[in-house]
Amino acid sequence: MTNALLQLHPSPHQEVPLQGLYLQQKLHQLGNSGTPFVYANFLSSLDGRIALTNPVTGQSTTPEALTTPSDFRLFLELHAQADCLITHGGYMRALAEKRLGNILTLNTRSEHADLIHWRQENKLPKQPALVIASASLDFPIPKELESRKESIFIATGRNAPPERLKAWQKKGFQVLITGTNKLVEGKPLTEKLSRRGYKSIYLIAGPMILHTMLEDRQLSRLYHTQSQQLLGGNDFHTLVSGKPFKNSLNLKLSTLYYEAANNHTSGQFFFQYNI
Ligand SMILES: NC(=O)c1ccc[n+]([C@@H]2O[C@H](COP(=O)([O-])OP(=O)(O)OC[C@H]3O[C@@H](n4cnc5c(N)ncnc54)[C@H](OP(=O)(O)O)[C@@H]3O)[C@@H](O)[C@H]2O)c1
Repeated sequence: MTNALLQLHPSPHQEVPLQGLYLQQKLHQLGNSGTPFVYANFLSSLDGRIALTNPVTGQSTTPEALTTPSDFRLFLELHAQADCLITHGGYMRALAEKRLGNILTLNTRSEHADLIHWRQENKLPKQPALVIASASLDFPIPKELESRKESIFIATGRNAPPERLKAWQKKGFQVLITGTNKLVEGKPLTEKLSRRGYKSIYLIAGPMILHTMLEDRQLSRLYHTQSQQLLGGNDFHTLVSGKPFKNSLNLKLSTLYYEAANNHTSGQFFFQYNI
């Protein structure tokens, strides 16, 4: 992890410390009881890939070459400011099969343990609440998350498989019906979370859910780390998938930081857009 980034926008250009850079934004104070502050964060290559699909297994992952300690630190600083995270059924399946690591829990035993203290100082619970968006309702909840059962919500559409829906309720999980068909829709989801008192909501899901939130104009801010490398490949994911938006979305750049390449990592830009 480098210690400083170069601020390119707004001027004046200056070096700024990386640690604490996103924390100082106090995102948990930007939402209010009627309108939560909803934000998302993506890491992509210069050619827009967030994940490549393995042609043999059909499974997609973010290439390790894209990930850096600096980006991960900033990802966790965003996590620390959330009172609620949105993930999805596919991630739960990947977690249970140990295909992906656990990014839903802030770890007391890591170099980022300061973030837990930061939450305590800022009167946020130790871990945020969790929303699992799923149309299939076909996923396990790994044991490591069971202790957070009270603050785990499952969001789905009205026509989700009824037997599975009942099974989740029977296990004591709160199911939020937030869509008219099988899929979750952005506005009903944020409204239901807002009614439960959540004010800073961090979307750590993928391109389908980003589309869902943007289509309903439910995203307040997009964070985008762009690594200065080209990955190529025909089978990949980019930030957002789905139908073209009914009205195009114009984003407003609020800040841009730059980290130069070094012997271990490519250079990268850290963009922040208000929507
Ligand atoms: N580099 C990055 O910053 C970044 C960020 C995010 C993801 N990724 C990667 O990108 C790839 C694709 O993303 P992804 O599979 O995580 O995400 P995704 O395409 O957004 O979502 C996949 C799952 O989310 C559920 N879902 C999506 N939209 C829904 C809706 N409107 N209502 C209900 N459920 C909905 C579905 O779960 P069910 O099947 O259970 O119905 C679906 O299988 C993955 O390899 C991921 O690791 C990279």
